[in-house]
Amino acid sequence: MALSSRHLLGLQGVPKEDIQTILDTANTFREILERPIKKVPTLQGKTVVNLFYESSTRTRISFELAEKRLSADAINFSISGSSVSKGETFKDTMKNIEAMKVDMVVVRHSAAGTPLYLTKICNSNIINAGDGTHEHPTQALLDMYSIRQKIGRLEGLKICIVGDIAHSRVALSNIFGLKTMGVKVSVCGPSTMIPRDIKDLGVDVIYDIDEAIQENDVLNVLRIQLERKAREYFPSIREYAKYFGITQERLDKIGKDILILHPGPINRGVELSSEVADGSSQIILYQVTNGVAIRMAVLYLLGTLN
Ligand code: CP
Repeated sequence: MALSSRHLLGLQGVPKEDIQTILDTANTFREILERPIKKVPTLQGKTVVNLFYESSTRTRISFELAEKRLSADAINFSISGSSVSKGETFKDTMKNIEAMKVDMVVVRHSAAGTPLYLTKICNSNIINAGDGTHEHPTQALLDMYSIRQKIGRLEGLKICIVGDIAHSRVALSNIFGLKTMGVKVSVCGPSTMIPRDIKDLGVDVIYDIDEAIQENDVLNVLRIQLERKAREYFPSIREYAKYFGITQERLDKIGKDILILHPGPINRGVELSSEVADGSSQIILYQVTNGVAIRMAVLYLLGTLN
């Protein structure tokens, strides 16, 4: 089954059928990842450029692995060591890369809208690997996939996204995707980190973390983005951890199971205590494994559209 778009720029407006198709396709690829030989010839002859203008560990390696598992030729671009340091513009850089006959571009950039811009200036399929504080669609897809695998469904679940909602592309993509899949979504964090118009997206706001833990089936706990000046939004990291950090003591109080997700990288002792980060409620590394399958599914579905 084909997707309705030849790009994946975000999950805003993506139909339920497309999300369902990606999650179902990822199931097939997840099984391939368990085989002794984890490679299929599906994208043989296709070339994918991973254009990372921002730091990444999980997303970058995950996309590269996904491309290699599908037998595509994977090319990695990072600004250090490139002609960007000689003053070449983003547009010229992209035009030159595409002149080498690439088929797909995976892009991470600090500027929101960069993936959309790329669709205007080149012919390749564009996949957003995180654009500023806008969207990170493959992260939300792997989060949804992981929840669906663990609980068996998405529809009707209550899921709370915790932390710096205002600056999080993971939050926005999760909100769009989860709402489309029939989830009751809430957000929890300091009021300075909750956008004033967040309710317009159809989510509830909870300011008390213990209430968020009590009321939800799943918590998706965001990283406090210290590199994006997150410290300016609360008095101290210690205070953030005290009021919003997920600790085992807090989880033990509710007397029921709850699933804890985190997109990584974790600030241990800030948004999650180490005990929770390594504990039985979290599925952090399971998310990372599923990320390869989700990215294989997206690459396959877009790469075979052409
Ligand atoms: N979750 C995530 O996007 O991690 P990276 O920044 O390491 O890619």
